[in-house]
Amino acid sequence: MFSSSFFYFFILLLNVIAMFARRDILSIHDLTKEEIDYVLSRAEELEVYAQGAGSGSRGNGSGSDSDLLGGKILANLFYEPSTRTRLSFEVAMKRLGGEVINLSSPDMSAAAKGENLVDTIRVVSKYCDIIALRHPKEGASRMAAAFSSVPIINAGDGAGQHPTQTLLDLYTIKKDGLLDQLKIALIGDLKYGRTVHSLVYALSLYGAKLFFVSPDALKIPADIKADLKEAGADISEYTDINEVIKEVNVLYLTRIQKERFPDPAEYNKVADTYRITIDLIKENEGVVIMHPLPKIDEIDAEVDRTENARYFTQAFYGIPVRMAVLYMLLSKRK
Ligand code: CP
Repeated sequence: MFSSSFFYFFILLLNVIAMFARRDILSIHDLTKEEIDYVLSRAEELEVYAQGAGSGSRGNGSGSDSDLLGGKILANLFYEPSTRTRLSFEVAMKRLGGEVINLSSPDMSAAAKGENLVDTIRVVSKYCDIIALRHPKEGASRMAAAFSSVPIINAGDGAGQHPTQTLLDLYTIKKDGLLDQLKIALIGDLKYGRTVHSLVYALSLYGAKLFFVSPDALKIPADIKADLKEAGADISEYTDINEVIKEVNVLYLTRIQKERFPDPAEYNKVADTYRITIDLIKENEGVVIMHPLPKIDEIDAEVDRTENARYFTQAFYGIPVRMAVLYMLLSKRK
């Protein structure tokens, strides 16, 4: 006979599998707090593979360290530029023994001949087990999911959402032990920045205190602010970093999203609004500095070498976190 503890473990396992059964991740709203916590815990377990467990040294493993996703194929469909998201999805899949097919330049695909996204998704979903899609149009992933025979992961849709970035941001914050005591300044382009649009909803689940810092022209959208207020989130708005620097334990910088401005003249007006300097950090020596990257001029190069800078480690965490996401979305299909 099974012991009662084994029985409860078995039921828990079935629940976890059911949570992710035939799931897409199109927005952070597709995950409950329990599911997010599960992803973060799973990422912690898988991080050893992200580092190349076979070599015993960080990042220099030889061969496949794990075969958890052996026989599975990820299709990376990227209709917008990407370094971190596309490559870390690829590394995550390969480190877990899976394979990857890539459309990294729409100019070199049938899209250049006029094929629409729906037809591409209908075809590519027959070539693979899961699709990571980045697209300039908000809502593109949701439309793709309606026509795909395999799970879709939104890898960024215009100014919409970037849910796997949110998961790796949370993982970074958790690694610093700050997830349950977070006071975070979200700085820069809060209007078009999809990483912030996803992240703030997740942070509200953890009771974070949110300080929005932006030029007036790039404030957090009113609908997101209303949602956060309705959820009881503690939010406040500023235009000057100096007003919040001593109040927070994390600064989350964002790039001003030049490509989303209808009028380049409007971009030029706000392009250089914020800059994190060594002098600013002296005002709060323990503050953690995050950025989804790429960064342009919003952080002084000197800051990169400080103990405060977390953004390159944050980018590395894209691998274990995306391993966790891929594993959970694909393992239920076995
Ligand atoms: N953070 C992020 O989405 O980076 P990439 O645009 O390089 O994928």
